[in-house]
Amino acid sequence: MDLKNLLDVLIEKNRSLISQGHVATYIPELAKVDPKLLGTAIVDKEGKVYSSGDSKVYFAIESISKTVVLALALLDNGEEEVFKHVHKEPSGDPFNSIKKLETEEDHLPRNPYINPGAIMMTSLIKGKDPDDKFNRILNFMKRISEDDTLTLGTETYLSEKRTGDINRALAYYMKGQGVFSENVEETLDVYFRQCSINVTVETLAKIAGFFARGGVLTTGERVISQRQAQIVTGLIATCGMYDQSGEFLDNIGFPGKSGVGGGILCPLPSKEIGVAVFGPAIDKEGNSTGGMGILKDLSDKLNYDMF
Ligand code: DON
Repeated sequence: MDLKNLLDVLIEKNRSLISQGHVATYIPELAKVDPKLLGTAIVDKEGKVYSSGDSKVYFAIESISKTVVLALALLDNGEEEVFKHVHKEPSGDPFNSIKKLETEEDHLPRNPYINPGAIMMTSLIKGKDPDDKFNRILNFMKRISEDDTLTLGTETYLSEKRTGDINRALAYYMKGQGVFSENVEETLDVYFRQCSINVTVETLAKIAGFFARGGVLTTGERVISQRQAQIVTGLIATCGMYDQSGEFLDNIGFPGKSGVGGGILCPLPSKEIGVAVFGPAIDKEGNSTGGMGILKDLSDKLNYDMF
């Protein structure tokens, strides 16, 4: 069976898992999304895209943007500086938990993919004002995905901004502890916008492919160093699915970064392949139920398991 046919089969096979999840409701705009959507895409070593299901539907990238912002923060500041502001360890807590910020002796976030760590990374992006910083993130995302169609979802952004008090609490807590030096509201304004960029599952597979190829575009042009790509992908493996990261790596066998919009981005560095799924019905940890089923099947059928 060729890859496109396999993806078609897996979409139909995993549709029944949709009913085990629900669309995110804590951001009102996400609650309006059709829970029945399901799509998947794979980008091979040469950059050829295979996709199936709702692969052309745009949705909010949400937490998956944290991988792109980490890459840009590394490019802007270098590895040494970035890791003065954040650790590299799994938190074992939900993505918006404040617990470890309080109990860690230095009050730094455990990793760049939980919300406090991601907000910290956004604060490290260079730019003269929030608009400039956001535009740099959007343009960088367009460049590494080789997708010029990406835009800000204004309604999602306004929805995130209206309901983002836990993120405000996390940032003000860090500021109060003296570990966050930027303006909180301005940084969060950029963070809410980066989460609200509209992508398709094909865009996510292309970003995954970029990281899997070690930071090189399909044209052969290098954008970030091999080491920077390794950091982004290694942390996806250990921290990408929050308190489900161990279970995901054991069960699926390759790195995955989820978002509450229903996307999961999976770079497979050993094969230089990018995989992505999209299904807005998510489980209580915030991960797409149909999407996880497809990833498990791909892992089994294509020998994608790294272990
Ligand atoms: O910070 C938030 O609450 C959202 N904008 C992003 C959260 C998210 O996607 C968590 N991932 N599963």
